[in-house]
Amino acid sequence: MKKGLFITFEGSEGSGKSTQIALIETELKKKGLDVLLIREPGGVKISELIRKVLLDVKNTEMNNECEVLLYMAARAQLVGEVIRPALACGKVVLCDRFLDSTIVYQGYGHGMDLKTIQDIGAFSTQKVRPDMTLLFDIETEEGLRRAGQNKDRIEQRSLDYHKRVRSGYLQLAKEDPGRFRVIRVDRGKEEIFQEVKAHIEHCLSQQ
Ligand SMILES: Nc1ncnc2c1ncn2[C@@H]1O[C@H](COP(=O)(O)OP(=O)(O)OP(=O)(O)O)[C@@H](O)[C@H]1O
Ligand SMILES: [Mg+2]
Repeated sequence: MKKGLFITFEGSEGSGKSTQIALIETELKKKGLDVLLIREPGGVKISELIRKVLLDVKNTEMNNECEVLLYMAARAQLVGEVIRPALACGKVVLCDRFLDSTIVYQGYGHGMDLKTIQDIGAFSTQKVRPDMTLLFDIETEEGLRRAGQNKDRIEQRSLDYHKRVRSGYLQLAKEDPGRFRVIRVDRGKEEIFQEVKAHIEHCLSQQ
């Protein structure tokens, strides 16, 4: 069966994920590839509704368990409605955040049990896993500065929380070097883009 390619873009706030994913989408489309760009949480109607609940600064009473399950619910709908069908018909799916985000923001960030989150994640994603994950690694203060003043419910959290997120990401990358590519972002967008492009072209050539 023809199979597509699933590439996820991960990293802390302001690390340049959305910038780079848009650049590579344009590049791959220029080459004539069938590309689908989506973002998490969201990407389809139901998941975008859940996104609003998750990011709304007014929802101060939300507990950590509810937060995990809402992220997973949004993801489950996105995988079933869009990601699996797209991969089945051979598309290149570029996703701005995926399961690793929940592992680091809720697992490492809140200190929740990682194995439990992994298990709920496997159920929610029907075990759909990225072929490659690009991790944009940025020094925490610089990322928050780049992300700007308009902070959502998650971005508002403490500097220490965001530092745990960053080290969680680096830990995941260390544990799974076959899937992760860590990209340094203390340089210009064009230089970063050339590295992103090289990783994705390599991945495409392996298909
Ligand atoms: N290499 C770079 N150098 C300096 N600024 C950059 C670079 N790449 C992106 N930026 C800028 O940093 C800001 C954050 O970038 P971007 O929105 O792509 O990050 P993100 O990882 O998607 O953030 P978020 O997690 O908040 O969605 C934007 O204003 C963007 O223009
Ligand atoms: Mg973004």
